[in-house]
Amino acid sequence: MKGTGLITGLRFLVLGSAAGGGLPQWNCNCSTCAAARDPSSGILPQTQSSLAVSLNGETWAIFNASPDIRQQIQQTPQLHPKTLRHSPIKSVVITNADVDHIGGLLTLREKQPFDLFSTPAIGAVIDANPVFRVLDPAFVSRKAIRLEEEFFPLDGLAARIFAVPGKVALFLEDGEPELGLEGEQTIGVELIAGGRRAYYIPGCATLPHWLCERIRGADLVFFDGTVFTDDEMIRVGTGIKTGQRMGHMPITADGAGSLDVLSRLDLGRMIYVHINNTNPIWRDGPERNAVTAAGFEVGHDGMEIDLA
Ligand code: MLT
Ligand code: MN
Ligand code: ZN
Repeated sequence: MKGTGLITGLRFLVLGSAAGGGLPQWNCNCSTCAAARDPSSGILPQTQSSLAVSLNGETWAIFNASPDIRQQIQQTPQLHPKTLRHSPIKSVVITNADVDHIGGLLTLREKQPFDLFSTPAIGAVIDANPVFRVLDPAFVSRKAIRLEEEFFPLDGLAARIFAVPGKVALFLEDGEPELGLEGEQTIGVELIAGGRRAYYIPGCATLPHWLCERIRGADLVFFDGTVFTDDEMIRVGTGIKTGQRMGHMPITADGAGSLDVLSRLDLGRMIYVHINNTNPIWRDGPERNAVTAAGFEVGHDGMEIDLA
């Protein structure tokens, strides 16, 4: 179907499967980061959190502009320019204002038209940082999207955003942030096309009942896989924060992790994304086996999913 311009159904490309920092993270030599620097390890480097979505394989919406977007475009032929000045990227949607999700906007500054969708709250964070004025408004159309309102990041692609439990961006924390905040700061995205329903939720602090019911029975879910256990960064020795403190629900937690909760929701496919470099699911072992035993998948850069 490629090149025909026909709408063929939801098509996804995982541009970046890692959490902020990527794998390996520049200043980290934990065993997984070290392995990702060793070509003989079988652990491939992974870039920071971003997803591309298309209906026709020709025009794409990007969900989150990671600081690695230049490399991601370079390693994704579908996103290369087709004429002298051109981009298949028609829109960018931001799900929170953390650096891993907005840093790449600076790379998209070369007078190329696209729509930039964000909630007013996330838009205000972008506006408060004058460096983002490099996105020339004559080319980049800012679109404010409201929670629960339908919008179209691409022709024919109906999307809806909703608040998920989270917190303000790390660089906006002032003392102890409110955890599990449900507002415009951290959102999930619902995508509907061709009778298929998919969700992109790369950051989520908890899975309350209402959220479970919302995604129940979905054809595809991309979900926050930052940490396997809440105290993982502390145990590895790379940090002092729990997953919860960072606004990320652990994959396992005595039956209350995302793995157990999502397993009960009759999901067609469930793929972990936004995976921190300390997470043991990058490697073969009992943790990764637990994910695959549940029928879930570990996202990786270049992963393609076609819901046609
Ligand atoms: C997060 O998801 O917790 C953020 O990406 C943190 C950060 O900005 O480094
Ligand atoms: Mn992040
Ligand atoms: Zn590391």
